[in-house]
Amino acid sequence: MTTPARQATGQPGQLGKPGIYTQREIIRLDEMLSSHPQERWSEKVVQDGRNRAAMICSPAGTPGDPHMHPDFNEWWVILNDEVEYAIGEYEPFTAKFGSIVIAPCGYRHDIRPIKGDRCLRMVVGFQHSNHDLKGLEPARQVPLDDLAPPNRIHTSLDYMLSRHGTEEAWSEQVLFNQRNRANMIHQLPGQGNRPHWHPDMDEWWVVFKGELEWQVGKDAPFRAKRGDIVFVEAGRAHSIKTVGDESSIRLAVTTPDVIHHFLDDPAAPRPPRD
Ligand SMILES: [Fe+2]
Ligand SMILES: [Fe+2]
Repeated sequence: MTTPARQATGQPGQLGKPGIYTQREIIRLDEMLSSHPQERWSEKVVQDGRNRAAMICSPAGTPGDPHMHPDFNEWWVILNDEVEYAIGEYEPFTAKFGSIVIAPCGYRHDIRPIKGDRCLRMVVGFQHSNHDLKGLEPARQVPLDDLAPPNRIHTSLDYMLSRHGTEEAWSEQVLFNQRNRANMIHQLPGQGNRPHWHPDMDEWWVVFKGELEWQVGKDAPFRAKRGDIVFVEAGRAHSIKTVGDESSIRLAVTTPDVIHHFLDDPAAPRPPRD
């Protein structure tokens, strides 16, 4: 199956500049890793009008650069190897594939790759934020809170699997703030959702388990698996189903007040784009 490359722009490169993967309809994790032979790299992958998400890859032992942001909640999805985080005054913890980590606005964060040659994290940030508040040290360290989702400092995939299992379909909000809602969705083989579209919001997903098929507009369907990222622009109809023998888990990232127009609702407006 070929990789469609809608709106591919620029070259791989620095944070803040478009990379070759920016807003591709699908970004395959294995392709992205193999396309960057260098030890350390970063590349912007999603720009949806409210977030700027970039991949940051570096080997274990790369020093941290503790800082904080006064104006937004920064968050990450870990996609390869292991990364140690210290957030605010919380004790450091290890994040690995499928972990979602949140540094609330004003919380210092110190991020250190600790295991593997290609510790890969996707940072979801805010384009114009202040990154100059550096060098802060925590006054003390306290254990992580064990609160239910959403908005845990660390939501690991293992935690969500122990909470819900894989016998039934489930969905739970793991992040909710004024800019984003992120739902983790588990579906059994063959299960899917109703075709729909969003009038004013690009939607994107990170696949954590299994394999899923996206049908977008009138395009040929395509499949994504563990570690892949899918991006669908506002105004395009889409539906998703779990394929293969294994159940699937995906993280769906939307605005907090996302509007759905369903194609099987005769009263709903039609999508403006194919
Ligand atoms: Fe940051
Ligand atoms: Fe959607």
